[in-house]
Amino acid sequence: MSVDYSHIAEEAKTQIASCQDGEALEVLRVKYLGRKGMVQDLMAKIPALAPEERRAFGAGVNNLKNNLADLFAQREATLNNSAVLFRGAGMDRTLPGKKPLLGKLHPLTQVQSEICEVFGRLGFKVFFGPELETEFNNFEALNIPLDHPSRDAFDTFYVSQPHSNSLKTTERLLLRSHTSPAQIRAMKICKPPLAMIVPGRVYRPDAVDASHSFMFHQVEGFAVGEDIRFSDLKGVLIAFVQEMFGAKTKMRFRPSFFPFTEPSAEVDISCFICAGAGCSVCKKSGWLEILGCGMIHPHVLRSAGHDPSRWRGFAFGMGVERIAMLKFGINDIRLFFENDLRFLEQF
Ligand code: DAH
Repeated sequence: MSVDYSHIAEEAKTQIASCQDGEALEVLRVKYLGRKGMVQDLMAKIPALAPEERRAFGAGVNNLKNNLADLFAQREATLNNSAVLFRGAGMDRTLPGKKPLLGKLHPLTQVQSEICEVFGRLGFKVFFGPELETEFNNFEALNIPLDHPSRDAFDTFYVSQPHSNSLKTTERLLLRSHTSPAQIRAMKICKPPLAMIVPGRVYRPDAVDASHSFMFHQVEGFAVGEDIRFSDLKGVLIAFVQEMFGAKTKMRFRPSFFPFTEPSAEVDISCFICAGAGCSVCKKSGWLEILGCGMIHPHVLRSAGHDPSRWRGFAFGMGVERIAMLKFGINDIRLFFENDLRFLEQF
């Protein structure tokens, strides 16, 4: 006969089972099996018992001690062997992991790089002009006189004259309203023949809505040589459009006006969404406008220090947002600048 301590064992079992790490288990072990623990307390009572009670009492305590030792060993094995938990870290290693997010380039950067790559394969070099420009380069040099109404279309943000600036000039400064002023800079620095593209940010004091932003991106392109013709411009743009939008894309030139080119044209491509049948994106016309272009105006060549009777060239300019919106079917320009990961992760 032994004294029954199974109620203590039961209680210990529940407590042991709820231990989530080795530390908590150790605290319990000390409580039950430690030198000043519950089992030791019971043992200490034996000498005071009547001799005939000692055997049964002692056997009961021993039973309890063995039971508890088994329970602790089992729990310890579960915690260790299944490697469920880091000791103390409270981290469940069996839970499925979180997929690490891959960084991506912004959709505008992707499209801008693609444009630059296509022209790179056609022999164009990349040139960067400053966003803070002189009034002269942004307007006068490009044949947009101070008092000319066409200047409204390129109105911009003027900055108050800083004491010193990286452009080292005393001229009036502004945030460039297009990438075309980089033509002047490139042509002053590099001798023709040359073929260059200029990607970059431009600024206009436009009210922000689904299709306008006060800051957006353009890619300018131009080539200057002794025998450059409009047909060269056509050939380059056809190659670009077919690389960018697919070999079946059709293209048309519409006569237009820009102060810095003569003649000037706007280029439309056949709508790649409805293939010319007419849809909401092309406003039922079957055509999408993608860029402006023309033969560089003699005034522009002269502003950059080149004799227009010897040199001629073509130029073109396109909006990166517009092309990205068409390519990806995006209907609101503001999405590009809100940094919403739910949008950005789609590209
Ligand atoms: N600079 C023009 C704009 O901002 C775009 C442009 C049109 C650039 C015709 C050109 C060009 O080089 O030839 O809208």
